[in-house]
Amino acid sequence: MGNELDLAGAEEMADPAVSARRLRDLGRCPRYARFDPPFHIVSGYDDVCDVLRDPATFLSGHGQGPNFTPPVGLVSDPPMHTFFRELVQPWFQPRAIAAREPRLRAIAEALLDRVLAQPVWDVHDDLAFPLPVTVICEIFGIPTDDIDQFKRWSDASVAALSSQHPQSYAADVMAMQAYVGQRLQALRGAADDGLLLWQVANCRRDGAWLPIDEAVGLVLQLFVAGNETTTSLITNLVWRFLSEDGLWPALVAGEIDLDRAINESLRFDPPLLGLFRTTSRTVTIGEVTVPAGTKIMTHYGAANRDATAFAEPDRFDPYRQGRKVLSFGLGIHVCLGMELARLEARVTLDCLRRRFPRLHKVDDGERIGPFLFWGRRHLPVAAGDAP
Ligand code: HEM
Repeated sequence: MGNELDLAGAEEMADPAVSARRLRDLGRCPRYARFDPPFHIVSGYDDVCDVLRDPATFLSGHGQGPNFTPPVGLVSDPPMHTFFRELVQPWFQPRAIAAREPRLRAIAEALLDRVLAQPVWDVHDDLAFPLPVTVICEIFGIPTDDIDQFKRWSDASVAALSSQHPQSYAADVMAMQAYVGQRLQALRGAADDGLLLWQVANCRRDGAWLPIDEAVGLVLQLFVAGNETTTSLITNLVWRFLSEDGLWPALVAGEIDLDRAINESLRFDPPLLGLFRTTSRTVTIGEVTVPAGTKIMTHYGAANRDATAFAEPDRFDPYRQGRKVLSFGLGIHVCLGMELARLEARVTLDCLRRRFPRLHKVDDGERIGPFLFWGRRHLPVAAGDAP
């Protein structure tokens, strides 16, 4: 087996530690030519922080993925970014999110009710996937009847982000755009129902309604950004706790603090391994000069395993305290939904450990596709004692 960096190769896709190790050996800002267009990668903790804290040099408006795309909604630069962030931020503030806890708990309990009698069920399909989709639909005011359809659309948008052939997902992405566009149109001028979709439909910039395609872009972004990622957080955490001896019983017994467990899961198994910026000017990082107009990947997965920031970084330690993990990004683009994602994970795990104290996995399921993401498509589990 070669030792060359290959983010989409089998070894690195199977374990984020492998890319982290190879990146460390490659220095501060190596060029990665296995993707077209080629990009550079920063993976040291301080380098990733520096890039994320300098949005004038490292732009978001050319897309968060390795492909160049036009600015949409929050994937943009100031002043466009500032306008959209101010519009949606109130819905995701800590106090607004904390108020959703009882409803989140009710959703999690109802999902677990359905599987209680089943000898084998799937943490992804039956719990970690439907929960965040239901929650974001409720925040927007989108009916949840078509949840599977939304999952397909949402997966297509996510896959297009890191694909060499994004056009192959165009039909699903367009169907989702048409659906949301119709709902936004219907809400324009209607009475305020206090929900986020109404707010976006009726927001004005310079006195005029937003063009419908801009409004659609924003809604889809929020919708897609929080689903697969939160699903992966929950699935990864349960998988890790069921994979390492003694961890699930310790969580059930209350010996491990849930917030710390979530933090360590985010550090060790980040749902997004990295995202991208584009240089607005020539920059020098370490020995490497990167021309203007080049994509740079901020590799959170590797930065979270930087030994200068975390002691014994390759050990999963849910008792760990310390430095901030970078899995939600940093700076002006820091994840809008991080309070929501943390609360969803906390409530779900709390319900799960109470109702399934002897949970064990049937097998390891299957990794989700795109190389930027780290999560499991399936995670079959059983409720009784392990065989
Ligand atoms: C564990 C779950 C999640 C993870 C790991 C995650 C990760 C991230 C990361 C790394 C960024 C930074 C993007 C950048 O710097 O370019 C981000 C931004 C964002 N996230 Fe999340 N996210 C999660 C959950 C959510 C949820 C539940 C929502 C719901 C609305 C959400 C909405 C967003 C939005 C809208 C942005 C763009 C913010 C901006 O550019 O101003 N995320 N997320």
